[in-house]
Amino acid sequence: MNEGLLYLAPMEGVVDWVLRDVLTSIGGIDRCVTEFIRVTDELVPKKVFYRYCPELKTNSRTRAGTPVFVQLLGGHPQPLAENAARAVELGACGIDINFGCPAKLVNKNDGGASLLQFPDRIYSILSTIRAAIPQAIPLTAKIRLGIDRPEMCIANAQAAQAAGVELLTVHCRTKKDMYKPPAFWEWIPKIKEKTNMRIVANGDIWTREDYLRCKEVTGCTDFMIGRGALGNPFIFRQARGESLTADWSRLKHLLPGFFDASALYKGEMFAQCRTKQWLEQMARRNPDAAETFQELKRETLPEIFRRKLGDAQTPAP
Ligand SMILES: Cc1cc2nc3c(=O)[nH]c(=O)nc-3n(C[C@H](O)[C@H](O)[C@H](O)COP(=O)(O)O)c2cc1C
Repeated sequence: MNEGLLYLAPMEGVVDWVLRDVLTSIGGIDRCVTEFIRVTDELVPKKVFYRYCPELKTNSRTRAGTPVFVQLLGGHPQPLAENAARAVELGACGIDINFGCPAKLVNKNDGGASLLQFPDRIYSILSTIRAAIPQAIPLTAKIRLGIDRPEMCIANAQAAQAAGVELLTVHCRTKKDMYKPPAFWEWIPKIKEKTNMRIVANGDIWTREDYLRCKEVTGCTDFMIGRGALGNPFIFRQARGESLTADWSRLKHLLPGFFDASALYKGEMFAQCRTKQWLEQMARRNPDAAETFQELKRETLPEIFRRKLGDAQTPAP
């Protein structure tokens, strides 16, 4: 039974409000974070905040009532602080700052993981934001272990704590590691030895067994799960001790509604693309999903794709 927070990980180009809506309605998720919103020197238009986080209009919560934090990414304290304040004015219930993105384009423009070599800049960014938003609004941050030296995580975590963050999510890889397994969970106890804030463990939790091992290695009560939740959306409830399995008979019912909501949001081609993306993730762990993915992956016409998804809902005679 998990006694801390279970987070759905932010994933750019994957976890939009539609997927947050579907996954949080399954249950077990305590918090979500939006895809990162890039901040340069200007105020981000309000419509952009609403695009990334339509939940701002519903008390910053998904329909299931799960809080959604707005994630910002950038390298300059003042514009980040002004945009964090704007997000709060628009209704954000919490702000998260991304110091983990390894993408070359993002890092070249000073943001994401490139800041992990400068704990003083991490402190300056987070403390400036902290001062710009009301105390009642939690500020959180997400880091990787470092750029290529994992030991940087200690100084960066200390900087985040000194700046007053509520909690720090640690994706237990360096930027250089990208998404290559394994995740080095063993760094979290070292961070905890030198800090006393809440640490959310993240990276490579694919199954309930991984969750239990991660808990044991890190000593954490707070966890964030990303790709594992796509393949097994029931993983959060499993982590809470429920004994339900992620059978295809359960998974396949999620797809038609997801397609329809995505189609209403951005059209049928988009819906087809996102549904294939999700089905592919399910297929990694589930042979029945893999079979359906093989059948559907080359389908180019959304109407036919949708019809076949519908078929997948009908129980076999
Ligand atoms: C396609 C993709 C997009 C991502 N986008 C973001 C993002 O916008 N913000 C962020 O903080 N992390 C992002 N991440 C990192 C995840 O939040 C998470 O830290 C990482 O996937 C490791 O967790 P997992 O093994 O549970 O997936 C992304 C990861 C992937 C695979």
